[in-house]
Amino acid sequence: MDLIYSGLKPDHNVLDVGSGIGRVALPLTQYLNPTSHYIGIEIIFDPVSWCYENIHTRYPNFEFKHVNAENPYYNDSKIKQTKLDLPVEENYADFIFMNSVFTHLHPEDSQYYVRELSKKIKIGGLFWCTWFIIDDESTALMEEGMSRYDMLWTSDEIAYYPTSEKSTVCVGYRLSFIESIMAENGFVLERPVDMGGWCGRKPRSNTKSIAQDVFLFRKS
Ligand SMILES: C[S@@+](CC[C@H](N)C(=O)[O-])C[C@H]1O[C@@H](n2cnc3c(N)ncnc32)[C@H](O)[C@@H]1O
Repeated sequence: MDLIYSGLKPDHNVLDVGSGIGRVALPLTQYLNPTSHYIGIEIIFDPVSWCYENIHTRYPNFEFKHVNAENPYYNDSKIKQTKLDLPVEENYADFIFMNSVFTHLHPEDSQYYVRELSKKIKIGGLFWCTWFIIDDESTALMEEGMSRYDMLWTSDEIAYYPTSEKSTVCVGYRLSFIESIMAENGFVLERPVDMGGWCGRKPRSNTKSIAQDVFLFRKS
């Protein structure tokens, strides 16, 4: 599992942002020590409720928290993501996992999450996250129809969407934006970006061909 290869240890406190249906929580119940903690944060209520009833009741160190924030594609709510108070103590996390969530956020929300998460992670903690990187190669592949997702529309040359409606069904970013919001918040790249095959480019590692671009940062 890439998380273990990336440095996740059994005694880590884990924060899983956009924990969904517990896809990662379930295997982690067999990996994390009972004295470690896992917190999953999710904006859709039903999966949080399912995870609570089916995982938390057997593994009380696994907590699932519902935050009712608006995301145009996922959740209708009046609470803006940038107004969220994440229900996690400061300096809680040794490892933050955020799979396929920045790929559904507008830039102001991504920026807000990175800032908030920089307060929740310990110095030296690891932040594993995925993005869609928009560069010359992915743009050419999208234009040639080789990509699974098309994000060719932009108004700011930072965030790229399928159309001018700016649905968060998928959002891609310039690498310079990702690098700058991470650096502003003390996150340093721990290894080269693991480019996925989502746009039809040859994946850098052995990941599935549809994989997103994987980043591993360390909090300095
Ligand atoms: C593509 S799914 C990935 C789910 C999970 N991370 C996984 O790998 O199985 C994206 C998830 O992020 C959640 N999400 C979207 N915006 C969010 C936000 N601002 N905060 C927390 N979760 C969010 C969605 O509700 C959805 O469950």
